[in-house]
Amino acid sequence: MTVKSIAVLTSGGDSQGMNAAVRSVVRSALYHGLEVHAVQRGYLGLITDDIRPMDLRSVGDIIQRGGTILQTARCKEFMTLEGQQKGAENLRKRGIDGIVVIGGDGSYQGASKLSQQGIRTMALPGTIDNDIPFTDFTIGFDTAVSIVVDAINKLRDTMTSHERASVVEVMGRHCGDIALYAGLASGAEAILVPEVPYDMDRIAARMKENFEHGKRHSIIVVAEGVGKGDDIARELTERTDMDPRVTVLGHIQRGGSPTHNDRILASRLGDYAVRQLLAGDSGKALGIVKGELTATPIDEVIGAKKPFNKELYDLTLRLSQ
Ligand code: ADP
Ligand code: F6P
Repeated sequence: MTVKSIAVLTSGGDSQGMNAAVRSVVRSALYHGLEVHAVQRGYLGLITDDIRPMDLRSVGDIIQRGGTILQTARCKEFMTLEGQQKGAENLRKRGIDGIVVIGGDGSYQGASKLSQQGIRTMALPGTIDNDIPFTDFTIGFDTAVSIVVDAINKLRDTMTSHERASVVEVMGRHCGDIALYAGLASGAEAILVPEVPYDMDRIAARMKENFEHGKRHSIIVVAEGVGKGDDIARELTERTDMDPRVTVLGHIQRGGSPTHNDRILASRLGDYAVRQLLAGDSGKALGIVKGELTATPIDEVIGAKKPFNKELYDLTLRLSQ
């Protein structure tokens, strides 16, 4: 039996491109003759029954907006079986038999539980962290990296004038991809990520040597999962006569207009989710790997860890002299 009516929600930490994904789900569903609903505030809205029908115009003028018009929430109650049953019941009583969940790894756990409640479920990777396996990129990551690169470009100007070192703390609790991609793209001298242990003696020695050979600025990008930028700066100060400045980019990385890459990723995945539901599929996490759309069992994705791109990491080290 195929779905007739579906819902969409955004959950967990927001990310740029979530709106483009919502737009894609809604417009694709309507194109295919389905009814489509929005759930406000993630799993919380499922439990409180904050669900409304959507039409073509309700997703107008949002493809370029950061944040999520559906808002997002962290909902403890949905972690209980009673919460999950209540959420599924609220969908069923409206005749909704399929749902698209847009969020990070925590939201994927919720999506898995929802599918166990008999709701046909598709999960889309919405997080700036790029920490979801079985997809090359998550929705929001490209925009977040662009923001960090832009910030480092600016820092570089003033660091060069003063011949200083700069420590830039970026987001990524368990995944160093924002630090890695932004560090490579902005010519950082060191990238500190949770996936690779760092040796501050070696980093400090290299930075000193580079300054002696005429380098006029130094940038260390540190993922928050490694530690605080202030602590890294202190470790550097203890080993050199540098007087580094620390910048914590924080939630700036999660806002602003999504890049075209994130809009396209979101648009492709939203449409694919609707087509998978129409085909009778459920319990899948969708992604794009080497340009191809992929559908992987959610539980397999939850149980896996995204492989770290050691090739890019080594390249950064080779180039940053
Ligand atoms: P993200 O999706 O960005 O990783 P969270 O980890 O905060 O964000 O998860 C978002 C929400 O997903 C949680 O607030 C909760 O409602 C739901 N969730 C997380 N883990 C589970 C779980 N094990 N079972 C059911 N729901 C969960
Ligand atoms: O969206 C993921 C993430 O940005 C992490 O990198 C970060 O640690 C976390 O969210 C912070 O989110 P919040 O302040 O909303 O708890």
